[in-house]
Amino acid sequence: MNRSRKVIITGASSGLGLALAEALLRRGDHVTLVARDRDKLAAVCVRLRQQLAGARLEQLPLDVSAAELEKTVASAVAAMAGIDLLINCAGILREGYVEQLSEQDYRQTFDINYFGALRMIRATLPDLKASRQGQIVNIASVAALTGVFGYSAYCSSKYALLGLSEALRAELKPQGVKVQIVCPPEFDSPMVDALDQTRTPENKAHTLSIPKLTLAAVVEDVVAGMEQNHFMIIPGRKTRLMVLGIRHFPALSRWLADHRIHEVYQGPP
Ligand SMILES: NC(=O)c1ccc[n+]([C@@H]2O[C@H](COP(=O)([O-])OP(=O)(O)OC[C@H]3O[C@@H](n4cnc5c(N)ncnc54)[C@H](OP(=O)(O)O)[C@@H]3O)[C@@H](O)[C@H]2O)c1
Repeated sequence: MNRSRKVIITGASSGLGLALAEALLRRGDHVTLVARDRDKLAAVCVRLRQQLAGARLEQLPLDVSAAELEKTVASAVAAMAGIDLLINCAGILREGYVEQLSEQDYRQTFDINYFGALRMIRATLPDLKASRQGQIVNIASVAALTGVFGYSAYCSSKYALLGLSEALRAELKPQGVKVQIVCPPEFDSPMVDALDQTRTPENKAHTLSIPKLTLAAVVEDVVAGMEQNHFMIIPGRKTRLMVLGIRHFPALSRWLADHRIHEVYQGPP
């Protein structure tokens, strides 16, 4: 078995972040779980301690969009005596026609999805460098690779996260820190349950042109991908095929998307 790692996962009280925390705890890693809602996070940690006897886990209630998080993060790192792996999974989604999203929606999405990851990286970087196996995994989306109807705020933030990850991969490799990005398609999670209450029909038709995955399938591919040296981890075989199409036949992929959208188009009121 590989050596146990010291891990911080943001967005770890729900969905993918929680499922990854559970998988890494089962592997024997020491994991600090980060999320904003203190009570929900505490309840999740109680459940994990009950289910996984002997698991080493800490809870860190924190808003990754808070400007000054360095001290709080530093004490969490000190409590684990270092950090080997940072997983930036905290994310929010604001879907809607551009006319209906507010500037605040765009700013909030960037503050959490992009600046939240950047702040966590900057706060942990000295300790990641000090680790002999420092690793950063940023959870983006297929929406970092192609424009999606209704995701003007979300896509922009995930494209920015991809740009950050690409630049940091090159910059941190010589310093011994591995940077990876995960681009999943839609999967079952509380985020998607909430989206389903309000999403535009065009978004649903466009997004689901890539088949939805189960959370378990995403976790399996992410955990396997983290062990390898690929920069980009794309969960699901069909997703990887679709991404090949998006990359090599962009005009065809836009034409197919336009066709799907046209079939259900309603537009803003
Ligand atoms: N679900 C999908 O279909 C899908 C597809 C592709 C990519 N993704 C990406 O995968 C990641 C996880 O998505 P999910 O569906 O698992 O989401 P989720 O179930 O809604 O969980 C989001 C987590 O992030 C935390 N969070 C949100 N804002 C935060 C902040 N400012 N500071 C700290 N924690 C924060 C939430 O807890 P609190 O609210 O208590 O803070 C929660 O633990 C996201 O980055 C998302 O963009 C999701």
